[in-house]
Amino acid sequence: MKIALGCDHGGLKLKEIVKEFLTKGNYRFDDFGTFNEESVDYPDFAEKVAEAVASGAYDRGVLICGTGIGIGIAANKVPGIRAALCHDVFSARASREHNDANVLTMGERVIGPGLALEIVKTWLATDFAGCRHARRVEKIRNLEKKHLGNGDK
Ligand code: RB5
Repeated sequence: MKIALGCDHGGLKLKEIVKEFLTKGNYRFDDFGTFNEESVDYPDFAEKVAEAVASGAYDRGVLICGTGIGIGIAANKVPGIRAALCHDVFSARASREHNDANVLTMGERVIGPGLALEIVKTWLATDFAGCRHARRVEKIRNLEKKHLGNGDK
């Protein structure tokens, strides 16, 4: 599994912690920035990671901003992206099993690093359950086709 990682200045510290976790766990990942605390615009980093995942070059994305909200809203504008804001382990598991979420978003200003790493670990380890959920995800794809033009992934 190849993971694309990104953040804005509000998520930089947590992204570094997630990076250390991924490195120690021998996950394959690339960091799409931001790389310092200078104020930046979260849609720019959502775009990089979301496009990397939607293109098929990466299997999953993890995006972090102050709240996890803005960066997730932006990522979800890219066809093929199902970004889920998860601040608890139950939601992290459900976003994979039920929604086949391909991007996880979190807010550094909302949760601590211990919980964030449990969420990342669970989210990366959980498979899509398929069955009735596949029909629903297919309906999400159909909404994309109807409103955005292209929902290939
Ligand atoms: C940046 O100050 C902050 O607005 C951003 O990180 C995020 O929380 C937006 O949703």
